[in-house]
Amino acid sequence: MSTELANGKPASTPEETRSWSRKAWDVIDERMGISALAYPVPEHANRIAWTLGGITVLSFVLLIGSGIILTQFYAPRPALANLSVRAIEANDWGRLFRGVHFWASQAMYVATVLHLVRVFLTGSYKRPREGNWLVGVAMFGLLTFAVFTGTVLKWDQEAYEALGHNLELGKLLGGVGFWFSPGFSSGVSILLRLYGAHVVIIPGMILVLVFLHFLLVKRHHMSPHPALPVGASPDQAPDSEPTQPFTRHIRRLVAFGVALSGLLGILAILLPAPIGSPPVAGIEITLPPWMFWWPFTLENWFGLAAIVWGEVVFFLLLAILPFVDRNPNRLWRRRPVAMTIAAVLALALIVLTILMAVTPAQTHL
Ligand code: HEM
Repeated sequence: MSTELANGKPASTPEETRSWSRKAWDVIDERMGISALAYPVPEHANRIAWTLGGITVLSFVLLIGSGIILTQFYAPRPALANLSVRAIEANDWGRLFRGVHFWASQAMYVATVLHLVRVFLTGSYKRPREGNWLVGVAMFGLLTFAVFTGTVLKWDQEAYEALGHNLELGKLLGGVGFWFSPGFSSGVSILLRLYGAHVVIIPGMILVLVFLHFLLVKRHHMSPHPALPVGASPDQAPDSEPTQPFTRHIRRLVAFGVALSGLLGILAILLPAPIGSPPVAGIEITLPPWMFWWPFTLENWFGLAAIVWGEVVFFLLLAILPFVDRNPNRLWRRRPVAMTIAAVLALALIVLTILMAVTPAQTHL
């Protein structure tokens, strides 16, 4: 629709010459203020690396949509959970939506990590964006919980072993881990409580934080491209950089959304989401989802508590980054200390992950 707007205002056309679609658009826009989204953003914000946060949101939207459908057929009771997932899998549409949900979770995780890496490489966490970095770290933590709770819901061997770890870790955490113990609530099973966390508490918290994240991006504007000359204000794109309306960014994201939905649909058909047989107590034969492989290698070496310490140290390192890195440069070449530490950490995570992939499952509980 041709609503390209100068200075965020609709170009005025005489009433009689306007097409019906233009009239309809004007009616909607007058009420919803959509054209206000046409504010200028620096040209570099349309590059793929700067669109990864938006792709994360798209994956989240697909997760919520497919998740709402799955909740209609999933039974969150230990006796029925595995059976209900098998029944979903036995139906063509059920298999498709469960597959999309599974692959959207992988896409959101990968997009979040790539987005975090982009924000790190372009020094976008530096003043005044430290608060927004912390909001991002919190969302990453919640996403990790979402993957974990989702794994438990299918109530197969992998789920049962994940829950076993969870219960033991809850004990290790003492008072803090009390919520994770089966004794926390006598009338509601831990499966049902983890289900509540997975479908309401965690996505609800992520939604609130996404809203805050966006408000802060709008407030601080997109961070400058580190390779461009610094303008009058070092934390803003220079005036010399061309701008484009934000609506163009949104249009690109909608196109990405269509492509992502198609890709996830194809993956769901070709590589259906895994489901194992009902669990057997007292054995450990499965591997956790790949996002947890690095802390599980630590567990193989140092015992169960190493999972908690590994994750706590990882998230603490992320959280303190903007406050300990006082180098004002944003270009990666001028930040040798931060780059070296990040490269060592990334290498360690990759090596620990590969080690888990090539090590047979071990008994820990
Ligand atoms: C988990 C869900 C997340 C969503 C949905 C999300 C979404 C977004 C979006 C849409 C932007 C605008 C720029 C862009 O797309 O690159 C953005 C910027 C930003 N994000 Fe995220 N993000 C998430 C996680 C994170 C994480 C894990 C971090 C870091 C730990 C982070 C830190 C930031 C910062 C500092 C900015 C401002 C960067 C700039 O102005 O260049 N975000 N985020």
